[in-house]
Amino acid sequence: MDKKKIAGDKAAEFVKDGMIVGLGTGSTAYHVVNAVGEMVKNGLKIKAVPTSKATEEQARALGIPLLTIDEVDYIDIDIDGVDEIDPQFNAIKGGGGALYREKVVADISKEVIWIMDESKLVDAIGTFPLAVEIAQYGYKQTMQKMTDFGLKPVLRIRDEKPYITDNGNFIADLQLGAGFDIADVAKKLTGMVGVLEHGLFLNTCKKIVVGTDNGAIIKENPAK
Ligand code: A5P
Repeated sequence: MDKKKIAGDKAAEFVKDGMIVGLGTGSTAYHVVNAVGEMVKNGLKIKAVPTSKATEEQARALGIPLLTIDEVDYIDIDIDGVDEIDPQFNAIKGGGGALYREKVVADISKEVIWIMDESKLVDAIGTFPLAVEIAQYGYKQTMQKMTDFGLKPVLRIRDEKPYITDNGNFIADLQLGAGFDIADVAKKLTGMVGVLEHGLFLNTCKKIVVGTDNGAIIKENPAK
């Protein structure tokens, strides 16, 4: 069976009646949204906050009752995918371009669970490019500032045009390489003019669910 589906199906078991649920974005989160949709069809009573327009569409088609981020004060459980995660649970997210909404949802969640196949587990993050959401206005200056800091930004292009996020912004993908100084890069990006948010999610999730050939493995974050 698809390892992403194994992880998604397992994580859906943590969703209980009455919860407000954050629904992640991407090819792994797709499976948890399907599983939750099935549970709703079978009588589960929840409300969900999607982390992207794509997830919103999928959830709506499945009949999952939705709330906007502005209609909630907190989220009980947030289940999302991840691009890379190290043994300290430092992660890169945003390969799908949804990092800002994903971070807002994770930030107000009582519990964050990330789902993945084994390919996402790495010794050190940074091989996967770090997505940074930046304003269109002045993006060249923002990227120049990143270059000056040695962060190697590449403007994300789709269909020969700059990729535009659900929030109407561009994405700069930073080619940092495994073993980069996480705290230093986070500090440089936080508060940089033109940067909305970056895809470093540090000590955010409580547990991970990894789909393998032998079923799902759950690992708890000892620091949470
Ligand atoms: C979306 O912006 C991302 O953060 C995804 O959660 C992440 O890229 C994982 O995506 P896949 O499950 O498709 O690999």
